[in-house]
Amino acid sequence: MEPIEKDEIGILPPGALGVAYFQHLSQRVADRPPKALSLWVREGSASGDAFRQDPHLHIRGENGVRHTLDIRGRIFSGIAACAGKRPLPAVFLVATLPDQIIGVLKDAIAWLESIWSADQWLPPAPPPFPALVLTANGIYFQRIRQVFLELLEESTLLGRLPDLWPEAMPKLVGHLVRGVTIQTGLREEGPGSCVYRPGPPGLTRLAGGSAAIRQALAKELTAGDLRFVDLGDISPTRVEFDKAIINLSGNLLGILAATEQGGAPRPLTIAEILAHPVSSEIPRLVGTVLRIGQSVRAYPRDYTLDAAMANLHDIHRHAAQHCPSSVQRLVSDFQCGRLRRVIPPTEQWLLDPLLKYARAADLAPERIYLENLARTLLKRFGQLARMTRNES
Ligand SMILES: NC(=O)c1ccc[n+]([C@@H]2O[C@H](COP(=O)([O-])OP(=O)(O)OC[C@H]3O[C@@H](n4cnc5c(N)ncnc54)[C@H](OP(=O)(O)O)[C@@H]3O)[C@@H](O)[C@H]2O)c1
Repeated sequence: MEPIEKDEIGILPPGALGVAYFQHLSQRVADRPPKALSLWVREGSASGDAFRQDPHLHIRGENGVRHTLDIRGRIFSGIAACAGKRPLPAVFLVATLPDQIIGVLKDAIAWLESIWSADQWLPPAPPPFPALVLTANGIYFQRIRQVFLELLEESTLLGRLPDLWPEAMPKLVGHLVRGVTIQTGLREEGPGSCVYRPGPPGLTRLAGGSAAIRQALAKELTAGDLRFVDLGDISPTRVEFDKAIINLSGNLLGILAATEQGGAPRPLTIAEILAHPVSSEIPRLVGTVLRIGQSVRAYPRDYTLDAAMANLHDIHRHAAQHCPSSVQRLVSDFQCGRLRRVIPPTEQWLLDPLLKYARAADLAPERIYLENLARTLLKRFGQLARMTRNES
C-alpha cells in the first residue's frame, strides 16, 4: 500500500468552512470529474463523536433546497490512526479553529513516525507527507511553521524519526501552506444535527510552503468558480494581515454589533454590521493594523489607508449577505449555553500577534487601542456567559 493517495483531497473537519469546500469540490466542472474527497475529524473530538452516531451531512444549497449526504465510509477519525490501514490524501484542507492546528500537526507527525518505523519510508527517499493547507483565520503561519519544525526535531531527538537534515526537513516544511480564504459557509445547529449552508464558491490565496507544492495545489484544487491562487513569493504574513483587516472589521466588530443591545446575540450580516454605529471604528481599526503591519514589514511604507480601505470595501461588497463565521459561532454557542468569558480562538489569534508586534515596535497608541478592544470583547463574553447561566 502506498502511504499517500495522490488524487485524494481530505477535508478536516466538516465544519462550516470545510463543508463549503467539500460541496464545491464535489461538483463536476466542465469535463473534469469531481475530486476524490474524504472528510476527517480530530480524534476524540465532540463533532467526531456526533458524526460517528449519525454519519450524514445535511446541506442546504444556494437555491434553498436541502439534501442529505450519507458519508459513511468517507469520514475518518485521526491522521495517525490511519497508518498501515489506508493511505492519506495528498492534500488536507485544514479548516479547524486556529488553536486546533498544532494538534493536527502533531497527529500528522505521529503518522510519519509510524510510516518510518514500519519501513514504508526509507530515507534518503523524500518523506511521504500530505500538503497541509491551513485555512483558519488568524495571523499565525510563521509561528506554526516554527512549531512544526520544533516538533519534527523533537521526534528525531526521541528516535522516532531519522535525522531530517539536510534533505528531508526543508521538504517537510514545504508541505505546510497557508490558505487565506474568503470562501464562506454557515453551520446552523439544530436539534440533534447541523444544517450546512455553503456560500458561493470563493477564493483561497496560497502562500508559504514550497513553490512546486503551491503551484500543484492551485491547479488541483481550483474547480470552476472555486479558486485557489498561488501568490508566488508574497509573504504569508502579508496575506494574513490583509485578512486580519477583513476579520477584525467584520468578525470582531460584528461580535460587538451583535451583542450591543444586551439580549441574545443576533446573526448579523456584513451589510447589517456596516449599517451599525460600531462600523464607524473601521477606519481607526484598519489604520492600526496597517501601522503595525508596516512596522514588521508585512506592508510597504507606501501602502496607504485609502488603498487598504478600498480593498476592504471591495471584499465587503461581495460578502454583504454573509454572516461572519465568528458571529455565527457566537450565536450558536449562546444558543447551546457554551459561552464562556474568554476571547474566542479566532479573535485571540488575531489580537495576540498584533499586540505582540505593537509592543515590539513600541507602537503605544496602537497597543492601547487593541488592548481596549480586547477588554471590551472579553466584557461582552462575560455578560453573555452570565446571561446563559442565569437563564438555565
Ligand atoms: N465559515 C466561514 O465562512 C469561514 C470563512 C473563512 C474562514 N473561516 C475560518 O475557518 C475556521 C473554521 O471556521 P468554521 O466556520 O468552519 O467553524 P465551525 O464550523 O464552528 O468549525 C470549527 C470547529 O467546530 C467543531 N465542529 C465542526 N463541525 C461541527 C459540528 N457539526 N458540530 C459541532 N462542532 C463542530 C470542530 O471542532 P472539534 O474538532 O473540537 O469538534 C471544528 O474544528 C475558523 O478559523 C474561521 O474563522 C471560516
